[in-house]
Amino acid sequence: MDSINDLEDANQGSYTPLLDQTTTTTQRKPSKGLLTFSGVLVLCIGMALIVNHNHRSDHNQIPKLEIEKLKPVDVISRGVSQGVSEKNFRLFSDDGTSSSYPWTNNMLSWQRTAFHFQPDKNWMNDPNGPLFYKGWYHFFYQYNPNGAVWGDIVWGHAVSKDMINWLHLPLAMVADKWYDINGVWTGSATILPDGSIVMLYTGSTNESVQVQNLAYPADPSDPLLINWVKYSGNPVLVPPPGIDMKDFRDPTTAWLTPNGDWRITIGSKVNKTGISLVYDTKDFINYTLLDGWLHQVPGTGMWECIDFYPVSLTEMNGLDTSVNGPEVKHVLKASLDDDKNDYYALGSYDIKKDVWTPDNPELDVGIGLRYDYGKFYASKTFYDQNKHRRILWGWTGETDSEYADVKKGWASLQTVPRVVVFDHKTKTNVLQWPVEEVESLRSNKREFNKVKLGAGSIVPLDVGRASQVCDFL
Ligand SMILES: *[C@@H]1O[C@H](CO)[C@@H](O)[C@H](O)[C@H]1NC(C)=O
Ligand SMILES: *[C@@H]1O[C@H](CO)[C@@H](O)[C@H](O)[C@H]1NC(C)=O
Ligand SMILES: *[C@@H]1O[C@H](CO)[C@@H](O)[C@H](O)[C@H]1NC(C)=O
Repeated sequence: MDSINDLEDANQGSYTPLLDQTTTTTQRKPSKGLLTFSGVLVLCIGMALIVNHNHRSDHNQIPKLEIEKLKPVDVISRGVSQGVSEKNFRLFSDDGTSSSYPWTNNMLSWQRTAFHFQPDKNWMNDPNGPLFYKGWYHFFYQYNPNGAVWGDIVWGHAVSKDMINWLHLPLAMVADKWYDINGVWTGSATILPDGSIVMLYTGSTNESVQVQNLAYPADPSDPLLINWVKYSGNPVLVPPPGIDMKDFRDPTTAWLTPNGDWRITIGSKVNKTGISLVYDTKDFINYTLLDGWLHQVPGTGMWECIDFYPVSLTEMNGLDTSVNGPEVKHVLKASLDDDKNDYYALGSYDIKKDVWTPDNPELDVGIGLRYDYGKFYASKTFYDQNKHRRILWGWTGETDSEYADVKKGWASLQTVPRVVVFDHKTKTNVLQWPVEEVESLRSNKREFNKVKLGAGSIVPLDVGRASQVCDFL
């Protein structure tokens, strides 16, 4: 099924034919320029213009898939039975007239991104334990080494100097202990004052109980942190009384309390109320469950992947997770398992009472603001002590069918990392900007000076072969 003729035969003309690179001379793989365009569009100041007269005809021929003609007959939910976030995949019927679209690798290969984080192949979901260590940005992620669908989850690992170009490393942690044999799930890193790293993550046990485990680098002198050791006394936390064994996951980065203890929060639910459990610990081994919850919002269901961090009311730089005081607000973010969106709210954190209160109860967590109104979930920030900024990673699960994912051989990408700051103008929300490193992706700069634009005139600008972004200043 590699040529366009085969496709037409297979589909009896019910679809607009897809272009195939072997049968057209005008269609080309996305050029670097085009990819740059998609990667840095948001950076464009002023008006953006796509100068594309050479390839307008290509655009007109971009295949329109009439997906609505495919009837979804089956929705497979993966993960729920094992007590983790539901992942929906649509399969399509094969009733003889509208079979699954016969994708070929040729057709699908262009979907890979150029600058967003992706492993070479297979399934990826949540970002895990992002951190900066000895000159390298580390990124860990939920990964299925065996296929392009959710399952067999372990921790993938990559490092970068700029969060744009990545060196992929061996798996950081695999499911090899009874306390994580059903999955090495999401977790967060804490960097202690002496520079050492503590990693807390959720394991799904041999009995599918969600527990929290401790891990640390095997060789702290290795900047790449290639090998990880799981603490011999794992698990360090099991679901407390009143919490379902499958509603206890995704520990946060820890912050310091006034008496020198570390504190973490973990998402859960009671009935339909989303809650955040709080624990204090001195050593990340022994924990005390605090009375009450950091926060709760009725009707929001299970809170996954909680993130909790300060933002500065006075400065544009990011803050270490332990910073608190009058010049700080705290962001509380929950990923709602029920609707698969990331909701945050701004509020005040009383560390003595251990209660966070939203500035505006009508914009509380789960009922108010989202980080992103597209496909964006399970996000996590970290404080980049290298450039004094707080960086947000988020998982984009796309909307492909599982069938297409399997055919592609991969599923999901991560958003371009973003800097998060308090919006000093509105004081009611945060602002997000792609990290400045994306600027390095700009290339082939051409400037046009003293171009006179008469009223109604058309002035051709030679900007090269591919689509470009132009800034008008
Ligand atoms: C799970 O592992 C624990 C610890 O090794 C063991 O005590 C328990 O029997 C195991 N459960 C099952 C169902 O194998
Ligand atoms: C949860 O529901 C049960 C049964 O309806 C009720 O007894 C309990 O008080 C509820 N818990 C909370 C925290 O609302
Ligand atoms: C944890 O706390 C218990 C009770 O206080 C104590 O017996 C135990 O030694 C502690 N474990 C560690 C590893 O500190």
